[in-house]
Amino acid sequence: MRILLLTHAFNSLTQRLFVALQQDKHEVSIEFDINDETAQEAIDLFQPDLIVAPYLKRAIPDSIWQNHICLIVHPGIVGDRGPSSLDWAILNKEKTWGVTVLQANAEMDAGDIWASVEFEMRDATKASIYRNEVTTAAVLAVQQAISCFQDTTFTPTPLKQLLAKGKLRPLMAQNVRRINWQRDDTETVLRKIRCADGFPGVRDELFGREVLIYDVHAAEGLRGRAGEVIAKSGLALCKATVDGAVWIGHVKDKAHQHPFKLPATVLFAKQCKDLYEVPAHEGYQEIWYEEHQGVGYLHFPFYNGAMSTKQCQDLLAAYQDATKQNTKVIVLMGGADFWSNGIHLNMIEAAKSPADESWANINAMNDLAEAVIRTTSHIVISAMQGNAGAGGVFLARAADEVWAHEHVILNPHYKDMGNLYGSEYWTYLLPKYCGQDHARHITQARLPMGVAEAMELGLLDAVIRGDKSGFIEAVKSKASALAKQDNIHAALQQKARQREQDEAIKPLSAYREEELQRMKKNFYGFDPSYHVARYNFVYKVCKSRTPLTLAAHRRVDQNTLRSVA
Ligand code: COA
Repeated sequence: MRILLLTHAFNSLTQRLFVALQQDKHEVSIEFDINDETAQEAIDLFQPDLIVAPYLKRAIPDSIWQNHICLIVHPGIVGDRGPSSLDWAILNKEKTWGVTVLQANAEMDAGDIWASVEFEMRDATKASIYRNEVTTAAVLAVQQAISCFQDTTFTPTPLKQLLAKGKLRPLMAQNVRRINWQRDDTETVLRKIRCADGFPGVRDELFGREVLIYDVHAAEGLRGRAGEVIAKSGLALCKATVDGAVWIGHVKDKAHQHPFKLPATVLFAKQCKDLYEVPAHEGYQEIWYEEHQGVGYLHFPFYNGAMSTKQCQDLLAAYQDATKQNTKVIVLMGGADFWSNGIHLNMIEAAKSPADESWANINAMNDLAEAVIRTTSHIVISAMQGNAGAGGVFLARAADEVWAHEHVILNPHYKDMGNLYGSEYWTYLLPKYCGQDHARHITQARLPMGVAEAMELGLLDAVIRGDKSGFIEAVKSKASALAKQDNIHAALQQKARQREQDEAIKPLSAYREEELQRMKKNFYGFDPSYHVARYNFVYKVCKSRTPLTLAAHRRVDQNTLRSVA
């Protein structure tokens, strides 16, 4: 079937749907919902059998839904309507929630129901539930709806005929989200912030400045006067509640010269200089190590998967410590939602010299990748619970093996960041693990890929299936089996020999130097593309047209025009 994904942006859910529908052998094209005319043009060019709207910020124009079946993916249970579905579900402590696929009509979210899938709720941020439970349910629900569409006897059910639990709810305004520090207990504070994280955040006050806050965690064992900032730890500030305290990791100050998400202690560096400092392992912990049956596990759930210079350096130090332990296998676990998304573009944008900070950050990333590549004392595994993008994918590939959960999406390319050349030793790693042809394909395609394609191309070595909650246990049993293998010493010797041979053919330093020469041009050269693309990414500037890599229908049109000419 020809399916057009009409979407506000190519976000995580849309990417998963794109990958899943292509895998189901549908012909899929994407159009960003920019205006009525452009959407109509896309339909005229692509002539889709079906239009699916996974993520829209406005209603589908009458002229489109009246002439085509348009299926809307709504992140709510049947009957739920409105733009803040998940926010309300989290705030109202719903035990289960769902995704509904409904047909667009004149009334927003009130069309006939084609499919719905429910899931259990989890104590997590809105963004995390969206990226995991909602996305998985959405793929299932869309696949069900497509089967229904292919079944000529199927008719969707009008909402009015269903005894639906859901109801119309308004946009959740900041007055609902506002924290009353004199009254709200820690659990309520966490819930209010989680239902607004990653967007829009909760409006609050820190050091007399109005900010939006994100990335909160209970601060165990800390007490103070409710509403006061009482401590700092790593990137986070600690604010007391009536019955405890919370760590606030990330903050946005819209009036600041850098009005985007930044770590709290970076934005308030001066104000928190003399604050009581809690060590990371007792406070806001971004990196931790654990050992289990002869395997070392390094966790690094950096917010949004972005890795600043300091975070790379801290992770390198933790990794070096891990290699000194009496183990034979190290697993790089990343975080639950992201394994890594590469260098920290917000921190770079906020730096005095973004070019210098980009340079420092990529070098810190490379130091880390190099340490992983050079490790001969351990077998190193990258275990992806969540997605990885850009340099994060290549950092993962620096390990001997890469394992991923079946729902992981990889974006192994830098080109959308202003034709950034990229580093992290990809020019060594991709030919080594994927071969030259695949390496070219991976870096040129500019498209997200699922685990099946990543396995085929050599970016992954194993896929771990099943519920995500069982992922860590599955990784642990696989890794400890590896550590117990009789031939582990032989495998390590072989690894050391291979490294020596590779080094003799071309030293790692040469790969690094060549990559960094190209990166230097990206950062300091005449072409400002990288700086412009980074600005647009950090400031979330909406795309004014769909990139041709996504809009297959527009590529067809160009070819036709050329052949006609
Ligand atoms: N630096 C800083 N923030 C980053 C980031 C990075 N490298 N990568 C992602 N983020 C942030 C996004 O700004 C977004 O922030 P929000 O919480 O304010 O919404 C959040 O992480 C989620 O990213 P989003 O783009 O919405 O996720 P996605 O699943 O739709 O797309 C990627 C994933 C990887 C394709 C996309 O995030 C991306 O292109 N990231 C940049 C990768 C990159 O070029 N890195 C630098 C070169 S190594």
